[in-house]
Amino acid sequence: MGDPESATFYDQHPFDWVPSDVPEKIESVVSRPLVELIRSLDVNSLVLDIGCGPGRVLGFLKRRGIRCIGLDRSRVSLGLAIKRYDRPGAVGDNLHLPFADGTADVVISDGVIHHTEDPLTAFTENFRILKPGGRMYLAVYKPNGRYPRLYKFPGGLIRDALMREWSKPFVTVFFQVPYYAIHFVRSGGKRTWSGARNLFYDYFVTPRVAFLPRRTIEEWCEKQQARIIRYDENRGQNVHSFLVAKEQQTQGRHDPAKVVVQERLIQEKRETA
Ligand SMILES: C[S@@+](CC[C@H](N)C(=O)[O-])C[C@H]1O[C@@H](n2cnc3c(N)ncnc32)[C@H](O)[C@@H]1O
Repeated sequence: MGDPESATFYDQHPFDWVPSDVPEKIESVVSRPLVELIRSLDVNSLVLDIGCGPGRVLGFLKRRGIRCIGLDRSRVSLGLAIKRYDRPGAVGDNLHLPFADGTADVVISDGVIHHTEDPLTAFTENFRILKPGGRMYLAVYKPNGRYPRLYKFPGGLIRDALMREWSKPFVTVFFQVPYYAIHFVRSGGKRTWSGARNLFYDYFVTPRVAFLPRRTIEEWCEKQQARIIRYDENRGQNVHSFLVAKEQQTQGRHDPAKVVVQERLIQEKRETA
């Protein structure tokens, strides 16, 4: 089960930064590979947005008339999504999803599994609910770039300071205000104080973060009937993304002997790397 600490975190600080009343250009708030995937979908496709937050992507799916359901561990975030976009939703944990095997044509996991206590189980569970022939969009934090260092420092200092009443104002003055100023300018004046504050909390304060290399995701896929059909390094940004296809059932894919061979090959690759 998810731990209450993280659940409380996104209840208190939902990932809410896209104004729902003044729509921004979709490409400025949703990654290009995800926009392209959604634009390619038939309206009869069923999309499950797992860890949907306040519904940034559900809103776009709704505008395109695509059937979609949101799920999030944070009741507050899911409540905002349902209120804004009037799509069905469920409070739940991506380690135990309340959907049958092969339910969805598309599963979206955008910036979610790196916040769970067991990213591999979350990936496997998200993949389980995908139909054979379906596709999964997965975006996770990269281990390189500046974010892992920033999460450590000044992130560690910020998390520490927020634990004491007397030091909280220092975080506001020395970190949140400059962060807001940068976002305000970069967004051309669109980012609000509360939107920037929520981004700030997600960036520096979120209690659990995993940085997942490309190779790790490739290994996860090799162990399943999963094929990466698109990889986006997203240079200069914190996350990289994978478009993963679930192969149609083919005979012999689950042969345990093949799995052993596959695992040995992965091990050999690691040793020669
Ligand atoms: C950074 S936000 C991303 C939200 C949304 N996917 C987006 O891109 O706008 C991470 C979200 O994952 C949710 N989350 C974290 N752990 C989860 C879990 N184990 N099961 C379901 N949702 C989870 C959080 O509540 C939060 O809303």
